[in-house]
Amino acid sequence: MARAADPPRAPVRGEIMPAFLRKPVLSDRGDGQTLAESGRGTGFMNDMAKAPVIARPIPFIDLQAQRRRLGRAIEEGMERVLAHGQFIMGPEVAEFEAKMAAFCGAPHVISCANGTDALKLALRAHGIGAGDAVIVPGFSFSASAEAVVIVGAAPVFCDVLEDSFNIDPASIAKAAAAARRAGFHPKAVMTVDLFGLPADYPAIEAVAASEGLIVVSDAAQSFGASLNGIDVGNFGAITATSFFPSKPLGAYGDGGCLFTADTEAASLLRSLRQHGEGKDRYDNVRIGVNSRLDSLQAAVLLAKLSIFAEEIEQRQLIAARYNEALADVVEVPRVTNSARSVWAQYTIKLVNRDKVQANLKAEGVPTAVYYPRSLHQQPAYLDFPEADGGLPVAESLSRRVLSLPFHPYLDAATQDYIVNKLRAAIAAP
Ligand SMILES: Cc1ncc(COP(=O)(O)O)c(C=O)c1O
Repeated sequence: MARAADPPRAPVRGEIMPAFLRKPVLSDRGDGQTLAESGRGTGFMNDMAKAPVIARPIPFIDLQAQRRRLGRAIEEGMERVLAHGQFIMGPEVAEFEAKMAAFCGAPHVISCANGTDALKLALRAHGIGAGDAVIVPGFSFSASAEAVVIVGAAPVFCDVLEDSFNIDPASIAKAAAAARRAGFHPKAVMTVDLFGLPADYPAIEAVAASEGLIVVSDAAQSFGASLNGIDVGNFGAITATSFFPSKPLGAYGDGGCLFTADTEAASLLRSLRQHGEGKDRYDNVRIGVNSRLDSLQAAVLLAKLSIFAEEIEQRQLIAARYNEALADVVEVPRVTNSARSVWAQYTIKLVNRDKVQANLKAEGVPTAVYYPRSLHQQPAYLDFPEADGGLPVAESLSRRVLSLPFHPYLDAATQDYIVNKLRAAIAAP
């Protein structure tokens, strides 16, 4: 189901600002539901002459709102698993893999236990190991580099672009040169679609071809996004994603999966994830691992996948509202017309980040810094090479980024409250 890259609808000017002027009313119910949503407290609401009601604490990501939207679908899916009892590789796993393939158009989908395992399996399926180097953007979650080390290869860090937070194609050749000088064979470049925005695959694939690298896509944050009308899951030689609960498509525990168009790689991955099995479980033809998606998690994900397309639309509207309300005071995230982000995070850039974050915390607005330190500066990775010229953009971003509360159920009143408090925090001396 490859979808065209529709630009997000910008809200009509004036849709947001009047709400900033209304004083929000705080509620301490603590369950993420507003009084207005619950339909309770009507007399109180009448008294307040329709003042918006803000649930407290404001969730950074509100998984309970999604659960309410799904009704009993998740419980029913889990009950079906409890009834048939096939907790490992039950029918939900195959059904989920088939529906994921239909959703994004990838020919083969292989589920596994988590996104980090998906990356490790992707590397192993392409024969990457000792003596090899994999070029990894420094501005990412540690799992991107960790997977490389665990398969026995060396991560070599490259820089990212200021606008997209994603790998800078020009830094790839500089990292490959540094890897060769350090005695490694550069075999792959691992793209990371940070915060849900696909990397610049056409440019990256061109550099990778000239450097003799395969492209491994770390799409842990971007399943559901697209570039030039092509869905994530179809870029590079292989794609890995994560179903960590806070991801755009998240389970109620760990989970991950791989996407490939290569039939041989797909059958190798199916073997590797289950102890290197051959024709059956007791025919071990290679050294594999135990990395399977639980049937219970597949049941949860099937329910969530059924509303995922709608949630992606909702994410576009909420991102557009933030953009509209904040573009005059901070650097808002930029998405080119050819890309459709899935907005795993809504991340702004600002110079006085730490002060603004503290002020927002005092006002009950949770925020997060992804990532406070670039991977090449993390103690665990100091011994690995970095691209010639260093990673100045990654280092600078780690001092300026701030992610705001974001999920498909962020209501307008709460979003207005966040925007209002953010504008005040920025203006504060
Ligand atoms: C960019 C990136 N890569 C890999 C991972 C690893 O996924 P998991 O937590 O499912 O192992 C994550 C998850 O947080 C991620 O954000």
